[in-house]
Amino acid sequence: MGKDVIIALDFDSKQKTLAFLDQFTGKKPFVKIGMELFYAEGPSIVREVKARGHKIFLDLKLHDIPNTVKKAMAVLSGLDVDMTNLHAAGTIRMMQGALEGLTRPDGTRPLLIAVTQLTSTDQESMENDLLIKEPIADVVMHYASNAAKAGLDGVVCSPLEAGMVHDKCGKNFLTVTPGVRFADGDVGDQKRVMTPAAAKEIGSDYIVVGRPITAAADPVAAYERCCAEFIG
Ligand code: C5P
Repeated sequence: MGKDVIIALDFDSKQKTLAFLDQFTGKKPFVKIGMELFYAEGPSIVREVKARGHKIFLDLKLHDIPNTVKKAMAVLSGLDVDMTNLHAAGTIRMMQGALEGLTRPDGTRPLLIAVTQLTSTDQESMENDLLIKEPIADVVMHYASNAAKAGLDGVVCSPLEAGMVHDKCGKNFLTVTPGVRFADGDVGDQKRVMTPAAAKEIGSDYIVVGRPITAAADPVAAYERCCAEFIG
């Protein structure tokens, strides 16, 4: 898979989602379906968006005992998504179980990406709440290398970490990076942001873009601008 822009479909209903997607009459964007939309509409929304010709990153961030994650991943694989994810904090064994569950009888499977530390976790909350005393950058890199050891395809990370992840885990280990904003756009609640062009420069493989596209006056133009800056 090459570089691509993934639009975060952060909507709470099928109606809003399809009304948004109806605007894309040309290229069908790669899209991300997260917990909000999935819990609102269930697996049928995944089938419906897939049937419209979109690639899908199903962002449900699984974290449970290895056997449960393995079985849940087998179900998600049957939904024919292109990419899905889990928490690296679930351990290498859990990640290996997930890969097994995800692999279809014919040997194919969706890409599997790990969340390292959520970007909402900072050094203080990691130390106080999770009792992890190492520097957060080291924890992120350790979790990324655990994901690589388990055989996963990559990690979700800040674009600012993408270069380091590639240095440690190899250039083929995918970096999927949210926190992208246009140079002249609103930052919103994201703390550490990068433009699509800068994310390309630093080596992100996929950028996940929500509000700069979904809240734009012209979402199709915003998507095309994002693709032009990131893919070229
Ligand atoms: O609207 P915005 O571009 O900020 O949306 C970014 C998307 O990426 C959202 O769906 C958000 O939940 C997700 N995300 C993130 N930061 C992470 C992991 C996921 O912003 N560390």
